[in-house]
Amino acid sequence: MDTTTQPTTTQPSAIEKVFAFVDERVGLKTLQAKMLNEPVPGGSRWAYVFGSVLLFIFIMQAVTGILLMFYYVPTADHAYASTQYIIHTVDYGWFLLSYHFWGSTAMVVCVFAHMSQVFLWGAYKKPRELIWLVGLALFGIVMGFGFTGYLLPWDQRAYWATTVGVEIMDKTPLLGDFMARFLKGGATPGQMTLSRFFVIHVMVLPAALMGLAGLHLFLFRKAGPAGPFRGSVEEIKAKTDYFFPRQIWKDIVGMVAVFLCICSLAFWEPIVLLEEATPDPGDYHPEPEWYFLFLFQLLRLKVFAGEFGQFLGAIALPGVFMALLAALPFIDRDPERNIFKRPIALISWIVVMASILIFTVAAIINREFLE
Ligand code: HEM
Repeated sequence: MDTTTQPTTTQPSAIEKVFAFVDERVGLKTLQAKMLNEPVPGGSRWAYVFGSVLLFIFIMQAVTGILLMFYYVPTADHAYASTQYIIHTVDYGWFLLSYHFWGSTAMVVCVFAHMSQVFLWGAYKKPRELIWLVGLALFGIVMGFGFTGYLLPWDQRAYWATTVGVEIMDKTPLLGDFMARFLKGGATPGQMTLSRFFVIHVMVLPAALMGLAGLHLFLFRKAGPAGPFRGSVEEIKAKTDYFFPRQIWKDIVGMVAVFLCICSLAFWEPIVLLEEATPDPGDYHPEPEWYFLFLFQLLRLKVFAGEFGQFLGAIALPGVFMALLAALPFIDRDPERNIFKRPIALISWIVVMASILIFTVAAIINREFLE
């Protein structure tokens, strides 16, 4: 019998069978098409990677944070010892803790980059006002992570930065006293403070971030990406790409680059604790984490001296600035998105960024001088 004319039928592999089984019940192919075939007006760009990179950093912070919780003890008499144990005894514990520490810095840098990108691209304008507002809440959460995480190692730096931070918060009219008492849970930072900061850091803020990031993405998919700020509608349409493959590859390169940067910093600049926290600062000059340093330096200016001055610099000024940011999409109704045709926006961005940079550098120089 001639077997060469027999039709050859290829049997689906086991993986294909499992995929077909799940697809039939879940609709994987439709989901995949929905997630990956999002049009990117004007084509993929490196400028769009920051949102995805932020999500990646958050996931890595959650993973490293959970691993750290296997060893960390959130009590005033064991927090410092358990952190030292992680650094000196646990296998690669020093790397894990240092990664988590530098990861928080990377998140702050990326949130500033993402905010700058959407601001300069005019992506906050109609119909993306709500994406911008939810983004501002996410910004608050990222800063909240930094503030609450700083206390957890329970060394002098942690204790005094928190003391200064809570004292500043106390100056807020109406709510300040309540917020400061709620966070401290006593006259001086102690067990209650540590417990509350820990719960906020590992439960409240992650839950809030996950919920709000979901809402942020939902609103983003609803409005669609804003696309480039230059070019006619036809030009932008002609260059439209899909999220897969070009944008997704750029996002992955961004994630890998940030991951390598955080790993390198954790390796070459691992975290070192000061002495265990005591209510006596001794020679130590309290200061907050670097991303709050500009505000700390601002408060050293003569105009912000005294009780009222401190209120102006620490509460009123940042409060007005955040309120202005929140109102921005409603004040700026002009549909023009080209940053070179929006001189006020461009100058404001340069002034804000330059001020943050100058005040941060001044605070670092001041620190060297004090030491
Ligand atoms: C944890 C913080 C944040 C995460 C994880 C996040 C994530 C994202 C992602 C994944 C996108 C999709 C496109 C892109 O990557 O550009 C996006 C878009 C956007 N985000 Fe965020 N974001 C965060 C914070 C913020 C902040 C602080 C703002 C501004 C106050 C903001 C405003 C926007 C706007 C306006 C868009 C739309 C951009 C466009 O249409 O081109 N986001 N965000």
